[in-house]
Amino acid sequence: MNEIRRVAVVGAGQMGSGIAEVFARAGLDTVVCERDATALRAARERIDRSLRRAVDRGRLDPAGCEDARARLLFADDLEALADRQLIVEAVVEDETVKTGVLARLDEILADDGAVLATNTSAIPVTRLGIATTRASHVLGLHFFNPAPVMPLVEVVSSLHTGPDVLRRIEAFAADTLGKHVVRSRDRAGFVVNALLVPYLLAAVRMAEAGHASPEDIDAGMLHGCAHPMGPLRLADLIGLDTVEAIANSLYEEYKEPLYAPPPLLSRMVEAGLLGRKTGRGFHPYREV
Ligand SMILES: NC(=O)c1ccc[n+]([C@@H]2O[C@H](COP(=O)([O-])OP(=O)(O)OC[C@H]3O[C@@H](n4cnc5c(N)ncnc54)[C@H](O)[C@@H]3O)[C@@H](O)[C@H]2O)c1
Repeated sequence: MNEIRRVAVVGAGQMGSGIAEVFARAGLDTVVCERDATALRAARERIDRSLRRAVDRGRLDPAGCEDARARLLFADDLEALADRQLIVEAVVEDETVKTGVLARLDEILADDGAVLATNTSAIPVTRLGIATTRASHVLGLHFFNPAPVMPLVEVVSSLHTGPDVLRRIEAFAADTLGKHVVRSRDRAGFVVNALLVPYLLAAVRMAEAGHASPEDIDAGMLHGCAHPMGPLRLADLIGLDTVEAIANSLYEEYKEPLYAPPPLLSRMVEAGLLGRKTGRGFHPYREV
């Protein structure tokens, strides 16, 4: 089996650009594919900013920064990905969009042994895999935000994922990317979001009920439980549209009221108040 050297990321939002940076910093030849020209430009700037920050903080030397930049190619068409050995899709958390992208990539990829990974937070990987003709080569590779900083990756096998594909990608995530790998069965939310999202939704319900202000809810968990960030600021960082989509997947899977998105969350998403990426959510943000 050839070593994985040629990779791609599809969807260059906050997660896709972070995953592309992780790949480039690991020395991989990386193509970033994003269909929206403004988002593609923003991704390039976001990666540049993040690489510069890593240099300023002494986590990357200037030569490493230049090498990573040189390994990144940007494209607006999936056709550019035909020779890739591994592609991670990180498009919006929408099953129809994801199955459309995966089915198209399946047609385009030249190598039958190439692996398609999804960064979905909560959509069953089995359902995404069967949208392709290579379900044995589809699995979940779930990074955390911001991907260059957070050490964890959840590796999720579907009922069709081949054991050798699973082992190969686990070894790649641990040895090539230097990530801490946990395995999860194909259950909505995997390990982390199945635990985290009900907590975030509880914080939204608390704000909705006027139980406490968003500032005090966050301060409570920051200073009372030593969390690095309060739940509403974390929901803003994830993106309220993504939190709502994950909640819907969890609710659809388990039918437990604690997973149902509260009305305030849905109204904020409808209003375009998506959190940090749009400049306002439960809190205001200057840098989008
Ligand atoms: N935000 C988080 O904290 C987080 C963490 C882990 C996983 N995820 C998952 O990662 C995925 C992406 O989330 P995000 O926060 O980066 O979202 P985002 O909204 O920031 O980015 C999604 C990007 O996908 C692009 N896109 C949509 N359709 C496309 C297509 N057909 N081809 C190419 N690009 C397309 C959009 O233009 C956008 O730039 C979702 O599945 C989400 O659940 C998110």
